[in-house]
Amino acid sequence: MKKTILIVLLITSVNCNAQKFEGLALTPPMGWNSWNTFGTDINEQLVKDIADKFVELGLKDAGYEYVVLDDGWMAKERDANGNLMADPEKFPHGMKALADYIHSKGLKFGLYNCAGSKTCGEYPGSRGHEYQDALLYASWDVDYLKYDWCNTEKLNAEGAYITMRDALKTAGRPMVFSICEWGDNDPWKWAKDVGHLWRVTGDIINCWDCEVGHGSWSSNGVWKIINMRKDIRKVAGPGHWNDYDMMEVGNGMTDAEDRSHFAMWSMLASPLIMGNDLRTASKETIKTLSNKEVIAVNQDKLGIQGFRFSNENNMEIWLKPLDNNQWAMAFINMSDNPVDFVFDWKKHDIGDDVNGRYVDMKKNVFKIRDVFNHKNLGDTSTNLKAKIGSHDVLMVTLKE
Ligand code: GAL
Repeated sequence: MKKTILIVLLITSVNCNAQKFEGLALTPPMGWNSWNTFGTDINEQLVKDIADKFVELGLKDAGYEYVVLDDGWMAKERDANGNLMADPEKFPHGMKALADYIHSKGLKFGLYNCAGSKTCGEYPGSRGHEYQDALLYASWDVDYLKYDWCNTEKLNAEGAYITMRDALKTAGRPMVFSICEWGDNDPWKWAKDVGHLWRVTGDIINCWDCEVGHGSWSSNGVWKIINMRKDIRKVAGPGHWNDYDMMEVGNGMTDAEDRSHFAMWSMLASPLIMGNDLRTASKETIKTLSNKEVIAVNQDKLGIQGFRFSNENNMEIWLKPLDNNQWAMAFINMSDNPVDFVFDWKKHDIGDDVNGRYVDMKKNVFKIRDVFNHKNLGDTSTNLKAKIGSHDVLMVTLKE
């Protein structure tokens, strides 16, 4: 009898652990990550300043929450007990003190590591230390773990990410688990119950549509990334998102391109993780990043990823079904010149095959709201007319 109870208890506890933390990232996570601007050149003062800027610049108020340290926060070796250590020069007060600071601002704290023996920057990886590292992060009050895929040799991706998921669950502190294996192992097919977001491509770079080679791999600009992944929108939803990578808004593209990039990440229900230096960001950059009406499209509670409606005559048109039978629509001028754009609603029925939502635009009339400029633009009974600058966006919501 005793034996039976023990076995039942064991099975129950294994089952309890074999799942991710539910109820996290019910809308795409919003935050900041150090990598795109700083690489491994990060330190305590920088991260505190960034957390201060979240509050001062109204970004916290706009919904940004996670301050995430990417590669380079660790000492090059583990300590005598095999525990990871913060780099003592970059982070003299250690990670718990930094987490406390970030939490004191009402924000959340994220760290990076890797499923391999070493991170991409050659710092100690978690392979063989998963449970130990998870316990350490929990003791530091970490809220978010980005988990990379360098130096993994012949590891099986699904298995490696499940191991870390179970380690986090066992450590007991709810953490968003961000899978970063660059879309190499089709995570959209298996990661829904493993992580809360998964990268769908290799690294982004700060250009509109370029590809930059680094020998065995390339970084890709905004439109290369968007065009790389098709037919995966149906797997995204509350608690499990396709991650199109950290944003390059404010990192050197034009303001128009930044607006379009931000609009697209919102339409794709991608996590909105800023990747710029908030200490020196321009007013226009902050205006884009903190645009609450655009963010509301990204954060819509249905969590339906948008899709391409058409791309003819240099105009990308994207559609995203929203809660309350509303829709978001983005028109992006891909040409090098401004256009006088006209859209005849009656000629375009709107529909989403995946979610079975259709609208007969000859019968239904929607009110149009320009969400970037916070203006009402009449309704769909007459043609939409707008001047759209080169690489700029007109983003609207449609409401009955
Ligand atoms: C890459 C990852 C980047 C960044 C970098 C750190 O694999 O895609 O987002 O985390 O490693 O070395």
